[in-house]
Amino acid sequence: MNKSSVPVSSQVGIHPRLVETVQRHLGSTWQRPLRAYSPPAFARLAGRLRVDRRIILDSGCGTGWSTARLAVAHPDCEIVGVDQSPARLRRHPPLPPNAHLARADLADFWRLARAAGWRLARHYLLHPNPWPKPGQLQRRWHAHPVWPDLLALGGELELRSNFEIYAREFALALQLAGFSADVELLSLNAEDAASLFERKYIASGHRIFRVRACLD
Ligand SMILES: C[S@@+](CC[C@H](N)C(=O)[O-])C[C@H]1O[C@@H](n2cnc3c(N)ncnc32)[C@H](O)[C@@H]1O
Repeated sequence: MNKSSVPVSSQVGIHPRLVETVQRHLGSTWQRPLRAYSPPAFARLAGRLRVDRRIILDSGCGTGWSTARLAVAHPDCEIVGVDQSPARLRRHPPLPPNAHLARADLADFWRLARAAGWRLARHYLLHPNPWPKPGQLQRRWHAHPVWPDLLALGGELELRSNFEIYAREFALALQLAGFSADVELLSLNAEDAASLFERKYIASGHRIFRVRACLD
């Protein structure tokens, strides 16, 4: 397996505009129109779920390896893995019957799920794209205008990242929204990996940070 690199950034700590950016988003509703294909794709996915079960969302699931793993660990829940990359989703492993994959942009999917009244049991963001350049702040999910919609989905939220600044900002953005959250440094072996990227990062000797919060 090729070694991967820790994200490199000229940013040395919390972004100086993080607080004002998050507060602005918390005080407004994001108005960008949904992509035309998003509502029917969401409806198709929602129609496959058993209505008597709670939902666990694996946002940015890549190939769905983590989705399959979560489905085995939580046989009483419906596990939904969402990713924008058809190339990754096509490479999914065998899926248990309670695992479901959907191709969608998360910024649309979260708003549709909120509008449909979804309240999650758990929500995983495993190693989202770090967007490490300071000018990319608003691409990080906690500084994105969709942040209030993500929070409204509730549940036990868990972020993992090998980019410490991302984890620290994520925890602060949760605190700004009134939730208790801290950054933990995990000590993991390869067999503990929650996702394929995490397995690669562990093999490369990266530090893995976790932020958890109860959004209910
Ligand atoms: C670094 S990979 C991590 C994949 C997986 N969670 C893992 O840990 O192995 C980030 C994933 O997020 C997906 N992604 C990035 N932006 C997205 C968006 N706006 N909507 C849906 N998926 C997105 C990418 O396609 C990619 O598969």
